[in-house]
Amino acid sequence: MKTLLVINASPNKTQSHSRLLTERFVSLWQQQHPEDHFIFRELGNEPIPHVDQQWVKAAFTPPEARDTEDNQAIAFSDLLVKELQAADVIVLGSPMHNLSVPSSLKAYIDQVIRMQVTTTLAPGTPGSPYVGLLHNKQAYLLLARGGYGFGKGEIYEHMDFQEPYLKAILLMLGITDVTSIKVNQTAMGETSRLASYEHALAQVDALFI
Ligand SMILES: Cc1cc2nc3c(=O)[nH]c(=O)nc-3n(C[C@H](O)[C@H](O)[C@H](O)COP(=O)(O)O)c2cc1C
Repeated sequence: MKTLLVINASPNKTQSHSRLLTERFVSLWQQQHPEDHFIFRELGNEPIPHVDQQWVKAAFTPPEARDTEDNQAIAFSDLLVKELQAADVIVLGSPMHNLSVPSSLKAYIDQVIRMQVTTTLAPGTPGSPYVGLLHNKQAYLLLARGGYGFGKGEIYEHMDFQEPYLKAILLMLGITDVTSIKVNQTAMGETSRLASYEHALAQVDALFI
C-alpha cells in the first residue's frame, strides 16, 4: 500500500487548471490502486505561516534542547514534514505566479526544508551543496501558467522560475524521480487554453495506461 501526498497551491477553488489535473490524477490513481492512502494538503486557501525568529531558533536548536516555545513554533512544520516523510508519491498542483510559485507554496517550502531532517549540507558536492534526506519518493508536478513560451528553447524559457525552482527544491529534499506536466495559455483565449489543457490531461491519462 502506498501513501500519496496531494498538494494544491492554487487560490482558485473552481476553474483551476492545476486542481483539475490533480483531481484527474487522484481519480485515475484511485481506480488503479483503491487500497492506497491519500493525504491532502491545501495551500491556496489555508494560511501557511512564514518562518519567524522563534521558528528559526527552534529549527536550529537540537530537539533535546528545545523548550516549550520552540516546540510550539515548529509544531506545524513538524506536521508538514511528517506528511512528506510518510508519502511515497507527492502530487503537487501549482499555478505560476509572477514567474514563480504562489507565496503560499513558498511559505510551505520554507516550512519543510529542515536541516538534518529533510536535507543536509555538503558544500562542494557537484550539482548541489545539499543532500536530501527523503528517499525513494516519486513526485508529479502538475503546473498551470496563463502565458506561454516557458519551455526548453522557447522564447521565455529564461523567465520560468516555477518548474526549475520546484525541481531544485525537490532535489534539495532528495527527490529526483520527477514527472512534470504543464498546462499553458490558460489566460490567452479559449482555443489555445483548451488545446493546452486537453494536451496536459492526455499526458496525465497516459501515466495510467
Ligand atoms: C497573482 C497572479 C500572478 C500570475 N503570474 C503569472 C505569470 O507570471 N506568468 C503566467 O504565465 N501566468 C501568470 N498568472 C496566470 C496563472 O498562472 C494562470 O491563471 C493559471 O492558470 C492559474 O492556475 P490555476 O488555473 O490552477 O488556478 C498569474 C495569475 C495570478 C493570479
